[in-house]
Amino acid sequence: MNLSQSELESEIQRLYDKLNKLGWAREDCEEIAPMTLEINHLKQEQNAVILAHSYQTPDIMYGVGDFVGDSYGLSVKATDYPADKIVFCSVYFMGETAKLLNPHKEVLVPGVAGCSLADSITVDQVRALRKMYPQAGVACYVNTYAEIKAESDVCVTSSNVVDVVEAMPQEEIIFIPDKLMGQNLRTMTSKKIITWEGTCIVHEGFDENSVKDIRRRFPDVKILAHPECTPGVVSLVDYAGGTSGMLNYVKRSPAKTFMLVTECGLTDRFKAEFQNKEIVGTCILCPYMKEIKLEDVFKALKNPDPRQYVEIDQDIAHRARASLDKMFELEKLAKRQLATG
Ligand code: 13P
Ligand code: SF4
Repeated sequence: MNLSQSELESEIQRLYDKLNKLGWAREDCEEIAPMTLEINHLKQEQNAVILAHSYQTPDIMYGVGDFVGDSYGLSVKATDYPADKIVFCSVYFMGETAKLLNPHKEVLVPGVAGCSLADSITVDQVRALRKMYPQAGVACYVNTYAEIKAESDVCVTSSNVVDVVEAMPQEEIIFIPDKLMGQNLRTMTSKKIITWEGTCIVHEGFDENSVKDIRRRFPDVKILAHPECTPGVVSLVDYAGGTSGMLNYVKRSPAKTFMLVTECGLTDRFKAEFQNKEIVGTCILCPYMKEIKLEDVFKALKNPDPRQYVEIDQDIAHRARASLDKMFELEKLAKRQLATG
């Protein structure tokens, strides 16, 4: 692609305006500008949309992403947006969710990245749990592969887990695969929760002492944690919820100082988007999320590798879609019940 000097200059400036808030130098922006321009050009040519999870690197979120958000919101966005092709910059299971909700669109993932939660459970293990607790309903967290969603009664996301689990007809719930989120649900819902052994290697890494330390050093701080953290950590924070919930909390809060007990991408996002707020404390990088590079996004549009196409067996897709549809149904029911008191 032949790029004019003025095109290049304005792309460098566009990137710099966003990324310098995160410590990027102008030279860093000069380095990636030819590639972001090419990706954005290919995207237009192919009527593609690029979705970027909030845990992606800033060059992807702000260089080429059309929408930045959480796993659930982005998949729904992909359904509403009139694109022929979806490139989902995130871990593989999120690409699968987008494909389940958009079966007639081409869905690509730049990299086939795993997730310690999604990788923690097999179909046989879900079937064994069902045999062991035949009276229980099965709720799976969205951080699972399509074949696990297909074995579950309902899927949940970090943004609706409490409402959906509470609205399930059973009193006993097998919650897979996140042990810590399951333990948190025991205090957040009235249900008897049976847990599995999966954990998120990022969120299980935060400890109570670092939260207490920040509270001591910054008495006015508001601390927000993902419900994949331990119950000990969750009990100490001002808000526990998914990445979008945290974003909405910060938007609405008059507080100036926040600690985000989650992956570093969200911290970057808040630093770039909330100029008048201060983010304190440390964050942890997700090695799976960070596997995805700008070059992989370029390849997915220019010359995709067969592994970059998300394809799901029809029977699995049909059953997995049913667990997502059940989630939408129970979510609506919960909202209606809340509105009518
Ligand atoms: P969200 O669904 O809140 O975006 O989180 C996804 C995830 O992988 C959290 O670790
Ligand atoms: Fe999986 Fe945790 Fe990484 Fe999210 S942050 S993708 S749950 S390992």
